Amino acid sequence: MKPIKIGVAGKGGTGKTTLSSLIILSLLKINQKPILAIDADPNSNLAENLGVPNPKSLVEIVNEVEKIKNSLPYGMEKSKYLEIKIQEAIREENGFDLLIMGRTEGPGCYCYANNLLREWMEKIEKNYKFVVMDNEAGMEHISRRTSGNLDILFIVSLCDKVSLRTAENIYNMINSLELNIKKTYLVLNEFTGKKIEDNFNFPIPVAFRLPFDQEIYNLTEESRGILNLSENAISYLKTKEFINHILSETV
Ligand SMILES: Nc1ncnc2c1ncn2[C@@H]1O[C@H](COP(=O)(O)OP(=O)(O)OP(=O)(O)O)[C@@H](O)[C@H]1O
Ligand SMILES: [Mg+2]
Repeated sequence: MKPIKIGVAGKGGTGKTTLSSLIILSLLKINQKPILAIDADPNSNLAENLGVPNPKSLVEIVNEVEKIKNSLPYGMEKSKYLEIKIQEAIREENGFDLLIMGRTEGPGCYCYANNLLREWMEKIEKNYKFVVMDNEAGMEHISRRTSGNLDILFIVSLCDKVSLRTAENIYNMINSLELNIKKTYLVLNEFTGKKIEDNFNFPIPVAFRLPFDQEIYNLTEESRGILNLSENAISYLKTKEFINHILSETV
């Protein structure tokens, strides 16, 4: 099957991981499974938001294989071994799998791993109905590590002029990369209390506004995952409404 691929980008602290988790929660609730959740932000906490404890990252696995590459079992090629080990990076949860990219450390070249990863990703993506990717602000790694195709990209922004300018810069930068993105939307996160009038100018359409949600705040304080939000949580309802809208357009 060909998955619907959704990416989330935006400046630090705007709510990328929260939105990625809300999308995953919405898809789970409307039974759009299986889902592959990818944490492609080295600083991210998507695993924690989804209630998955300490998963191993791909980078950690690649590093482990690099360390023992000269003592592999006889006849075992490094690429084959890495492919087997990579499977370990996929955490199987209830209705979704989680893959953590991890932080690339030092000046070493990861071209080998990235190429392998790109091929492997193309293969495994076919097992999922949806792929949801939480990204770092820039999306350079996407073109390095994946095919770079996305059906939908959400850029998240807070509702002040500086944040919106940054969101526009991110949009322009993403545009300049060789990515094939079918639709790009802005999500306005109003959790800081700032709002912006409806008729402001922005190069891409607003998908929806995410109001401050006390339930998200409480869950974060208690270090409990977003998947524990109640059915009436305003952030969940807003996200689900838009996901349903997307589904009605794509199906
Ligand atoms: N709509 C909301 N209502 C209440 N709290 C929110 C809302 N959106 C985000 N938050 C809170 O704001 C904080 C930052 O959100 P989040 O971690 O999703 O941002 P991020 O863009 O992923 O950050 P980073 O760049 O560090 O990865 C979190 O504590 C989150 O719980
Ligand atoms: Mg994050």
